[in-house]
Amino acid sequence: MKLTTDDYIRILETCEIKGHDEAILRILRYIELGYPVMLYGPPGNGKTTIAEHILSYLGGGGDEGESSFLKIEGTEGMSEYQVIGGFHPLAMSGNAELAKEFMYKDGIVARAIESGKNLLIDEFTRAPSSAYSGLFLLLSRDTLPLEYKETVLKKPEGWVLISTANFGDEGTFKLSNALKRRFVPINVGYVSSATEKTVISNITPDIDPEVENAIILFASETRNLWRKDRSIPQGLSTDGVIKMARYCELAMSQGFDAKSVFVDAAFHQGTIIADETDPHSIQLVQELALKIAEDM
Ligand SMILES: Nc1ncnc2c1ncn2[C@@H]1O[C@H](COP(=O)(O)OP(=O)(O)OP(=O)(O)O)[C@@H](O)[C@H]1O
Ligand SMILES: [Mg+2]
Repeated sequence: MKLTTDDYIRILETCEIKGHDEAILRILRYIELGYPVMLYGPPGNGKTTIAEHILSYLGGGGDEGESSFLKIEGTEGMSEYQVIGGFHPLAMSGNAELAKEFMYKDGIVARAIESGKNLLIDEFTRAPSSAYSGLFLLLSRDTLPLEYKETVLKKPEGWVLISTANFGDEGTFKLSNALKRRFVPINVGYVSSATEKTVISNITPDIDPEVENAIILFASETRNLWRKDRSIPQGLSTDGVIKMARYCELAMSQGFDAKSVFVDAAFHQGTIIADETDPHSIQLVQELALKIAEDM
């Protein structure tokens, strides 16, 4: 697929996610080269939003009420049935009419290829690698055999596949190496404090500057805790920063004071980023919040 400089610029400029221009550039280059990419990184930092933004741009927006790309979200129970296709459970029904109507059902990949629409596989690693066994031939030979239909689909020219994943997150499956090699991994990590300040100023223009600073500091300190020795399983995401800022802005407009609304919001988000089964992990985050509040 050929992308113009104008495409690159427009995709970057219209993206709601700030601070990930380099990741977006890398993604677009690989798309141009025809390789499937996998966006990975800690939760809540814009992977899904970036992928959807790029795919809807490339799909031209789609007709009214119809998406310009297809999307599936990985789940623990997902199998080849949802991904490639298979026999609908009602095909086994004793009712002959029903059985006829519900014979074979195409999975999302087959439907994407047949309709020529690009595909997003979100939360790829929430599903076991076995769900994707039919993808191998597609990713190495550009063909998708549909065994039960006795047909072989061919990958359309310029077809784009993007996936997102959390590596090593709890509740995810380890990606098989063979599958991993077929995607180009692009990291979408934490953005800088300066970027987050801009994001907050846009979303919560009336936030108290002291609270804003406290939130930004809290975010970067939790990320340090995570980086240093994994004493918490993840740092605060930009999504978490936005939620804190919105909560604080609202609570202060109702007359509550800066310190208490900050601690309140930090405890809420702290429960999300700490390991809730580990009292030490929760305590660490809470102490951090109280310490930042003390200096306010
Ligand atoms: N850098 C950013 N700039 C602006 N908004 C952001 C940024 N990062 C995250 N957000 C906000 O956080 C929300 C959640 O992002 P998104 O769902 O795309 O993250 P994700 O990485 O896919 O998370 P998960 O791993 O949990 O699926 C977005 O809707 C967006 O509003
Ligand atoms: Mg996501």
